[in-house]
Parts: sequence; C-alpha cells; structure tokens
Amino acid sequence: MTIRIGVVGAGFIAGRHVDVLSGLDAVEVAGVADPRTDRAEVLAGRAGAAAYAHWQDLLDGERLDALWVCVPPHAHGEVEEAAVDRGLPLFVEKPLATDLATAERLAGRIDAAGLPTAVGYHWRYLDTLELARELLAGAPARMVLGAWLDRAPRVDWWARQVGSGGQTVEQATHLFDVARVLVGEVESGWAAGSRSPDGPGDILDVCTAALRFASGAVGTFSSSCLLPRGLRIGVELVAPGLGIWLTEHQLTVTDIDGERTIDREVDPFEAEDRAFLAAVRGEEDDVRAPYGEALRTHRLAVAVANAAADGGTVQL
Ligand SMILES: NC(=O)c1ccc[n+]([C@@H]2O[C@H](COP(=O)([O-])OP(=O)(O)OC[C@H]3O[C@@H](n4cnc5c(N)ncnc54)[C@H](O)[C@@H]3O)[C@@H](O)[C@H]2O)c1
Repeated sequence: MTIRIGVVGAGFIAGRHVDVLSGLDAVEVAGVADPRTDRAEVLAGRAGAAAYAHWQDLLDGERLDALWVCVPPHAHGEVEEAAVDRGLPLFVEKPLATDLATAERLAGRIDAAGLPTAVGYHWRYLDTLELARELLAGAPARMVLGAWLDRAPRVDWWARQVGSGGQTVEQATHLFDVARVLVGEVESGWAAGSRSPDGPGDILDVCTAALRFASGAVGTFSSSCLLPRGLRIGVELVAPGLGIWLTEHQLTVTDIDGERTIDREVDPFEAEDRAFLAAVRGEEDDVRAPYGEALRTHRLAVAVANAAADGGTVQL
C-alpha cells in the first residue's frame, strides 16, 4: 500500500525528511504546506507534490495516511490537533513546543486517540548510541557531561524566546534525550543561565545545569550559542573503567585496551522516517521516541530552562 504523506513546514528539516521519504518505495509525498509559499513550492516541486500556503488546505485537499510536522517550536498546537481530529498518524519534529502546557495538552489528545506518533529525537537511531548503551549495560554510567557549544542558527525564530523557547529547549533537548536513554531519569538539579548585552535575540546565551539521576549518577549540561561555529556538541560519560564520548557522527570509547573511535554507519534521519512508516503500516514497532516518551524529555528540558532563567532548582 502506498502511504500518502503531508508535510507541514518547508524549511531545513522538512527538506531532509522529504528527500528521505521521496526516495522510499510505496511512499508518496502528496503535499507540502508553508505560509512562505516560495518554500512550499520549491520543496513540493522536488517531490512532485502539491504546494499549499496553509496546512488546513493541505488536510482538506489531500487524502493523507500520515503527517510530518516540521514547523518551528512556536507553531505547534493547532496543526497537531487538526491531525488528531482526522485520525492522522503524526511525525513531529522536536521540540514539542516552546512551553510545557502545549505539549501536555497535545499529549493528552494524542494518547486518547491512540494514534501512531514519532518525534524527531534522531540521535536515538544512531548505531553508535546503541553501542554505547551495550557498553554501559556492563558498567553503568556514574557521570555525564553534555555540551552544546555552537553558533545561533540563522533562522528568524531561533534567538527569540517566544519563537524557540531558548537554546535549552530547542537544542540541548537532544542531550537530555540521549542522557535519558543512557543514564536514566533525572531526579533533581539546579541550573543557571545568563544573557550578554550583545548576545543574539533575547534568549539566555549561556546556560549550565547540574543534575542528579535516579541511579545516583550525576551530570552537568552546558549550552551556548555565542560561537561562530560548532565547537563541542555531544555527551561524555564516565563509568567504572569506561569513558565514552558520543557525538552525532562518532563514538569514542576509552577503556583498559586504549582509545578507539567508531564512525556511525546509520543515517539517523532515514532510520527514524523508515521506523515511523513501518509503524504506520502496522508492520513493526521500532519508534524510539513516540510523543509520550518525547514529552518526558521535553519536561526535563523545560524544567532546566525555567531553573536557568530563575537561577534555581530544577522542578520536575
Ligand atoms: N531533529 C533535528 O536534528 C532537527 C534539525 C533541524 C531542525 N529541527 C527542528 O525542526 C523544526 C524546524 O526547524 P527548521 O530548521 O526546519 O526551521 P526553518 O525555519 O528552516 O523551517 C521552518 C518552516 O516552517 C514554516 N512555518 C512556520 N509556521 C508554520 C505553520 N504554521 N504552518 C506551516 N509552516 C510553518 C516557516 O515558514 C519555515 O519555512 C524546529 O523545531 C527544529 O528544532 C530538528
């Protein structure tokens, strides 16, 4: 059966998904919606799809089997609700929203409808993350250091608090998600953030958090968007006799045998799209971050962001 897909948003990440999806058998990208109609037309043209200015017209105009929601954090809410009303399976890009209330409301609607969902925490599909998890099964992590030291992405919504929710919610959320996979749930913590007069937009441009996990492990997570290019983006773990440094591209393992670096062999964007399509077809369930699971990561990211803004305790 050919799966007909609608894509909402026609920016960078929508392009990644459309290129993956339009290369797969028995998948048709039927329509792309973006208020920037120039972008909608270019992306739709790449996939032989129809272009729409508004997602409502896409939902009304096409018979769809699933919807990919690739909008900025501030634009979540109504589109997911309309998809749930129509019983459409949803792939949603992270973060779920700028705030927690929107994501909690949508999670309640999605859960009640019992629809297949997936959220774009694509690091979960890295073969190198799987390897890290296997290594840590024999020597659980005692410490984690997450860092996202980067430049501010050059999209108009990113450096505005109301647009993105800030760097912790928008970017460092990947680090919290990986830490939840490799170390487990966070119990408590503390965070601080700050903003320099010449920082981008109105968001905190440096943020750091110290967290305690239920396992007894401890962690620090730091982010900044003040740099001209990416400096350090990944998660470092310390376990008895084992050190791990995981980035989106590589895993470096340090143990008694020395140090070795392993490149990823999986395209995690393709893997997450294939896994969700298999779930929509009812063939296989390898969706690693369905909406409810992603909500747990979002709760943590929002709690850290709030604590950083207030200079205080992470309220979970
Ligand atoms: N998983 C990842 O690693 C990853 C990577 C990049 C981006 N993202 C996420 O994807 C989202 C989009 O990021 P991007 O880099 O593609 O941004 P972008 O600015 O390049 O694209 C977003 C597009 O959405 C459109 N849009 C805004 N409101 C809309 C609405 N109501 N309906 C339809 N379209 C609307 C904008 O006009 C824009 O063209 C963000 O939440 C970002 O965090 C995830």
